[in-house]
Amino acid sequence: MKNNLLSRRTFVKTTSLGVTGSALSIGGLSSIYLAAPQEADKLAILGGSPVRHAGTNLEVSWPIFDDTDIKMYLDAFKSKKWSEYSYSPQELSFRFKKAFAEMMGVGFCAPTNSGTDALDAAQRALDIGPGDEVITQTNTFIATAQTTFNLFALPVFVDTDPETFMINADLIEERITENTRAILPVHIGGGAADMDKIMAIAKKHNLVVIEDTCQAQHGEWNHKKLGSIGDLGCFSFQAGKSLCAGEGGAVIGNNDDIMARVEAYTNNGRDPRGMKRTFPGSNFRITPFVATTLIGQMRRLEAQSKIRDENVAYLEKLLSEIKGVRPTKKYAGQTRRAYYEYQLIYEKEHFKNVPKIKFREAIAAEGIPLGNGIDSSLHKDPFIETYFNLRTFKKIFSKERLDKYRRENLCPVNEMIDKETGVSLGQRVFLGSKKDMEDIVTAIAKIQKNASKLL
Ligand SMILES: Cc1ncc(COP(=O)(O)O)c(C=O)c1O
Repeated sequence: MKNNLLSRRTFVKTTSLGVTGSALSIGGLSSIYLAAPQEADKLAILGGSPVRHAGTNLEVSWPIFDDTDIKMYLDAFKSKKWSEYSYSPQELSFRFKKAFAEMMGVGFCAPTNSGTDALDAAQRALDIGPGDEVITQTNTFIATAQTTFNLFALPVFVDTDPETFMINADLIEERITENTRAILPVHIGGGAADMDKIMAIAKKHNLVVIEDTCQAQHGEWNHKKLGSIGDLGCFSFQAGKSLCAGEGGAVIGNNDDIMARVEAYTNNGRDPRGMKRTFPGSNFRITPFVATTLIGQMRRLEAQSKIRDENVAYLEKLLSEIKGVRPTKKYAGQTRRAYYEYQLIYEKEHFKNVPKIKFREAIAAEGIPLGNGIDSSLHKDPFIETYFNLRTFKKIFSKERLDKYRRENLCPVNEMIDKETGVSLGQRVFLGSKKDMEDIVTAIAKIQKNASKLL
């Protein structure tokens, strides 16, 4: 506690409460910080004591499970039914897909063995293929675009909204061509893309919408679950996600025919409505072990989301008292956020122009694991040229078309966010205590006060 820059009295007042009764009532964090004793002042990166001492990790141990999860897993193991493909109600994967569809408020769910495969199956079911274009964003995990390239189609990267860090929906229409088939927005970090605008554009141009919801399980748009707004929604259950099973994924949707194609693709072409092989297919089936792990994890998703919601509300209240690090904005339709990487905006002018990279080093030394936001600028990634150099790509796309693609492939705002403003905190941070939130803001205020020493 010695170096916690919130006074002990303030700490006691704030930790046991929710967002009310906070430190802010006595003058704001900055002023609390300014009143802190000098010995707490020296930045950890310059040899001082950190706000968080080693061994007091801000990120809770993840994933979380209990004896019931272990029993469920062992039961699946002992059953000796180690693979499932018949869609019979006795199967664990069937139970999972019904439960997930219900949780998401949709008619159908097709489990897959990763989020990447969910995106693949979704695009294949919509018959996206050679020469097509899919409008997506640059600040996402590589799989979003890779799965389009894998179909010999082109992901067209749209720049990022500097305030929300979501795809800038106002820039979508100008990228639509006669080859565009789909819009693939990503609910990046757990926030929501502007689905009202995106759906209106899709309707106007007769395009399908696939929501990459891999980072946004349980978020909502106008009180409907993210992933259920577009034609299809794709999820990842990789270990870092807030609903996880190590590896795993799912596609959700409401259209019987489209979802039958998705499901068939995941199950070697078997139409779930009779098991005839009437569609193209591969094998993306999940194991019963993944299914039972997910059924177990779903028991705690809502409770965990509530804890994160409360901690984020408290953090945002504390942050409103200082300048220089602020939450990204949300669109009006976002009625609930989800959690993967909570994104914030760093404004160096409030830190004597200390560059983001230096700020992140300083706050890491204080024991706060502040990430770089969703730091990919995929439009600049060399993987694009890797595809373009394939013999098969050269066969499908003319040199002129690929040159045009290169010329138009610009996302300057996202590059600025990567370099200057984007920072983030992982979902595990928000399963901690109110004091954890205070430590984050204390560390920010400490660096702000001492910013000139970092130059
Ligand atoms: C936005 C996004 N899309 C797709 C994926 C791919 O999911 P998976 O790792 O389960 O294949 C991820 C995974 O991190 C992701 O974050």
